[in-house]
Amino acid sequence: MQILESERVTKNFGGLAAVSRVDFNVDQGQVVGLIGPNGAGKTTLFNLISGALVPDSGEIRFKGKKISGVKPHQICHGGVARTFQAVHIFGTLSARDNVLLGALFGKSRSVSSADAAQEAMELLDFTGLSAMSATLAKDLTLANQKRLEVARALATQPELLLLDELMAGLNPTEVAQAMEMVTQIRDKGITILMIEHVMKAIMNVCDRIIVLHHGEKIAEGTPQEIATSKTVVEVYLGESAYAAG
Ligand SMILES: Nc1ncnc2c1ncn2[C@@H]1O[C@H](COP(=O)(O)OP(=O)(O)OP(=O)(O)O)[C@@H](O)[C@H]1O
Ligand SMILES: [Mg+2]
Repeated sequence: MQILESERVTKNFGGLAAVSRVDFNVDQGQVVGLIGPNGAGKTTLFNLISGALVPDSGEIRFKGKKISGVKPHQICHGGVARTFQAVHIFGTLSARDNVLLGALFGKSRSVSSADAAQEAMELLDFTGLSAMSATLAKDLTLANQKRLEVARALATQPELLLLDELMAGLNPTEVAQAMEMVTQIRDKGITILMIEHVMKAIMNVCDRIIVLHHGEKIAEGTPQEIATSKTVVEVYLGESAYAAG
């Protein structure tokens, strides 16, 4: 089943076509990568899916229902959560309270505060942050702030999780841990659409990859197909990908 469908979605900023007639589908249960050069329109596409922006034309459907034009909190309650390219956490709240907010305001917001607290502790555990539950979010390392953002997103009980450059700025050990976490989230049955520049991560964890360039989808396929696509190598990956592929 296709959990997410985008049909000729377009978003212009003045004269700039940030996202241009983009068609794609995401199958339920898959990890799909969204790659492309800086300014390709990747984050704009996430903003269109999560409701922060409304497309100028085209349509986005989640579980068969149109979500383009729907308010961000309603899309979140419907089962779509996201993280941000520059982490958006509540710095002066503890790690635990950041996750608690997700649990209280997400899809299952009718849960009791005791259940929400339990859920928050479980997610801190899942993301390896249990020992830091009382630490203020601003005092966590970047890698832990990113895990915290994932924990908060998961607390809203998403069926689709959008990850915008989860690996950016992390060291190789942290990247490996983040890749493991993505796989574990997928194993919970959550579909993942992830923007990433860290090719090792994309190639290893994704079932499929979509490539944007100047707002247009220029390729999609398996990691192997993308790594050896002449078009993708020319505009984004560079010649070294042939050697690696
Ligand atoms: N709110 C906005 N107003 C005007 N232009 C914007 C806005 N948001 C994005 N843009 C422009 O749209 C284009 C696509 O930006 P976007 O942030 O989606 O790219 P990206 O693929 O996420 O790039 P990066 O890999 O650098 O994060 C860029 O040219 C950017 O400057
Ligand atoms: Mg971006």
